[in-house]
Amino acid sequence: MFKVVKKRVLNENMTWLVIDAPLVAKHAKPGQFIILRTDEHGERIPLTMAGHDSEAGTIDLIYAAVGRTTMLMDQLEEGDYLLDVVGPLGKPTEMDGLKKVCVVGGGTGNALAYPLATGMHDHGIEVDMIAGYKSKEHVILEDEFRAGTDNLYITTDDGSYGEKGFTTDKLKELIEAGNKYDEIVAVGPPMMMKFICKMAESYGIPSVASLTAYMIDGTGMCGGCRCVVGGENKFVCVDGPEFDGALVDWDELIKRNSYYKEQEADDRAHVCRLTGGVRYHD
Ligand SMILES: Cc1cc2nc3c(=O)[nH]c(=O)nc-3n(C[C@H](O)[C@H](O)[C@H](O)COP(=O)(O)OP(=O)(O)OC[C@H]3O[C@@H](n4cnc5c(N)ncnc54)[C@H](O)[C@@H]3O)c2cc1C
Ligand code: FES
Repeated sequence: MFKVVKKRVLNENMTWLVIDAPLVAKHAKPGQFIILRTDEHGERIPLTMAGHDSEAGTIDLIYAAVGRTTMLMDQLEEGDYLLDVVGPLGKPTEMDGLKKVCVVGGGTGNALAYPLATGMHDHGIEVDMIAGYKSKEHVILEDEFRAGTDNLYITTDDGSYGEKGFTTDKLKELIEAGNKYDEIVAVGPPMMMKFICKMAESYGIPSVASLTAYMIDGTGMCGGCRCVVGGENKFVCVDGPEFDGALVDWDELIKRNSYYKEQEADDRAHVCRLTGGVRYHD
């Protein structure tokens, strides 16, 4: 059992949990993720470690409540428990040889971008961070990005905060202004990552994308997280989650990510009827 040490509500959709998980925290590196289950009947879901404290033995999870498991997690309070936390999984972010990067996060993807951007900055890399959101009420982690990167650029689709426009507009502006990036890192909805990586390619800049495919076992056995990169089958859980953005078959990934929409909608309705009935105690 893994205790919720701290809970911080970031906005009506996103929550930050600090979880007591000493063995995971001891080995965690930026870019890696865990798979958790809330209870014995629960599904396994992957979440990036937004941070970790190996001395305190804790890991940080920042998640959006989008479906059954994340809605169940929203019912947890400090002192409650998750049933399983397995990790660290996946390959850590590769940082060697990089001097200056631009990390581009979109929506919930900013939760995944946070450990990458700040981890790279801590590694001595100059990091420009473009954080894109739908509108002002969706903005998260502003103070954390400002403290943990070199330059933060916030965009909102409707212009209600930061600069009006998409992350691609801002990236183009920064490149055209003469910023020399060794790498562009894209983390967010697959469609956004596709366009960010295409733009990087058009300027001859290498790109890396952190893919969020469906996962079950997280060990490369089930095939659930298969994606196509450079014409070859890869598994996001063991070969990724970060891949060369120029080589990802984006259309295939986007198609696979929409396979279970109907079942997920049914599941969400089921949880709503249960709300208040599911609790986790010592
Ligand atoms: C390596 C990895 C790291 C991730 N890290 C984070 C994180 O740090 N924070 C966070 O909020 N989310 C993260 N995700 C996405 C997260 O796993 C899903 O939001 C979660 O599985 C949803 O589970 P659910 O039961 O609540 O919703 P479900 O009912 O299973 O799904 C609800 C909706 O969420 C979306 N969704 C479901 N699974 C995924 C998925 N694997 N990737 C993208 N969208 C999905 C779909 O739009 C779906 O309609 C990560 C995914 C991967 C693969
Ligand atoms: S989650 Fe099963 S192969 Fe990746």
